[in-house]
Amino acid sequence: MSGIEPGTLRKIDIVLVAAVAENGVIGRDGGLPWRLKSDLQYFMAVTMNKPLIMGRRTFQSIGKALKGRTNIVVTRDPDFAAADIVVAPSLSTALAVARGDALRRGADAIAIIGGTDIFAQMMAAADRLVLTIVHARPAGDTHFPEIDPAQWREVERREHPKGPQDDCAFTFLTYIRQGAA
Ligand SMILES: NC(=O)c1ccc[n+]([C@@H]2O[C@H](COP(=O)([O-])OP(=O)(O)OC[C@H]3O[C@@H](n4cnc5c(N)ncnc54)[C@H](OP(=O)(O)O)[C@@H]3O)[C@@H](O)[C@H]2O)c1
Repeated sequence: MSGIEPGTLRKIDIVLVAAVAENGVIGRDGGLPWRLKSDLQYFMAVTMNKPLIMGRRTFQSIGKALKGRTNIVVTRDPDFAAADIVVAPSLSTALAVARGDALRRGADAIAIIGGTDIFAQMMAAADRLVLTIVHARPAGDTHFPEIDPAQWREVERREHPKGPQDDCAFTFLTYIRQGAA
């Protein structure tokens, strides 16, 4: 008998992971407009052992590949290269690479980690939004896309007080698509 065995096409979620200020700002001058040590630990836990997709500018703002994860960097520059990353010329190529990597790792999700350009293009394809709402309203030049309440349902909320190495308090918020289980 031919065909695909049941269970072979395992679902791999597309998850947007972002820290977003109350005014929607996510970045300024190529970097983050806040310092939140506790959120970096959360980001590490959410993304570890998963394939990550990011824009070229976000990769350069981080400055190096993130350990324990496959770093897939999207750029239209055919000559772009850096140590320990996979370069993809389009988001569809990045997603195909990420899917293969997730299956190889046994990961249940692909993490899309920004920036604005990539979030905007991936919002329609995302299954989940894993957000840190930063309780501040900083000036900035990059923003998270509008979250349409007709499309997204909040399923988890955890308040987090300002830690000793944090600029402010923040809230972890997770959304899934309306209608999704
Ligand atoms: N708060 C957060 O959670 C968070 C997360 C990530 C980033 N950030 C901030 O966001 C800012 C960077 O974001 P950004 O929007 O300026 O840039 P970005 O999304 O990181 O990168 C944009 C670049 O990605 C490439 N690209 C985008 N779409 C593509 C496509 N469809 N096919 C091929 N390549 C594509 C292009 O690279 P080329 O120009 O090389 O062709 C484009 O210039 C920084 O300030 C960073 O700190 C914040």
